[in-house]
Amino acid sequence: MTWPEIYLNPVQGEILNNIDLGDGMFQLVVSAQEIADRVKPGQFVSIKVQEGFHPLIRRPYSVWNAEEGTLEFLIKVVGTGSKILYGRKRGKIDMLGPLGKPFPEPPYDTDVVVIAGGTGIAPLMFYLKYHSIPKSILIYGAKTSPSDYLYSRMQEVCDNIFISTEDGSFGYKGLVSELVEELIKTKEVVPEKSIFFLCGPHGMLKSLDFLPHERTYVSMEGVMACGFGICMGCAVKKRNKKGYFRTCVEGPLFKLKDIEL
Ligand SMILES: Cc1cc2nc3c(=O)[nH]c(=O)nc-3n(C[C@H](O)[C@H](O)[C@H](O)COP(=O)(O)OP(=O)(O)OC[C@H]3O[C@@H](n4cnc5c(N)ncnc54)[C@H](O)[C@@H]3O)c2cc1C
Ligand code: FES
Repeated sequence: MTWPEIYLNPVQGEILNNIDLGDGMFQLVVSAQEIADRVKPGQFVSIKVQEGFHPLIRRPYSVWNAEEGTLEFLIKVVGTGSKILYGRKRGKIDMLGPLGKPFPEPPYDTDVVVIAGGTGIAPLMFYLKYHSIPKSILIYGAKTSPSDYLYSRMQEVCDNIFISTEDGSFGYKGLVSELVEELIKTKEVVPEKSIFFLCGPHGMLKSLDFLPHERTYVSMEGVMACGFGICMGCAVKKRNKKGYFRTCVEGPLFKLKDIEL
């Protein structure tokens, strides 16, 4: 679709559920057949968090799961928009999407290692669920232990899970980058035989810049404005080249070798 078509065709979803998952995160479940039927892992939806003009700009959220006409989102409360969404338990919700490019078909002869921080787990879980990947490893880092619910959802999509928490309440005590280094030392993860998919806070992505650039993809979740390519509000600098990519149109997934973190 071109941007005017996207802009002129918002989907009216219906909020079905909104559940607090602890650690500032919540699960938003929305009925939206038109998007659920088309969305692929890695794509996102631009949500108008409430009626009226405040806030003016839509907020982008990756799809965590889509089935039977329903979309699930995993959202962290960080500011105005997410706080309003957290408070929305029922009613209509205006959405544009699916936006962005889907993740590529996974390789079936190589380990697929997904590494996520916080809500960055959402698109990566959808990816693992959508494709039947024979050999996948899920590495998740957070400040504190994931809720039992979130952990059980991870177990549904992957048999090989490693978790780090900064407070040591679950799994490895420390940062996810330190856990990845440990797993490489113990050969649980072999970089030369793996493809990596990363999504999470900027600091986490930077700390994983040691992974092989050619074999690593990064899903960028920085600030966005229009969401469909006309404002440059989501620019990501190209690595070793002049110019920028637009996360919303050329991304959100990029090869690490192509972008400056
Ligand atoms: C493609 C894409 C997918 C995303 N998927 C998810 C998702 O699945 N779940 C989720 O919780 N979030 C996701 N995000 C991030 C989410 O869009 C922002 O957290 C959200 O827009 C914040 O809006 P707000 O009104 O709550 O915060 P604001 O009031 O706009 O900002 C509050 C504070 O957070 C900072 N901030 C705002 N947005 C970001 C950001 N994206 N990165 C870093 N700092 C920010 C602001 O600078 C400010 O300091 C995604 C972003 C993109 C681009
Ligand atoms: S958010 Fe406007 S160009 Fe990407």
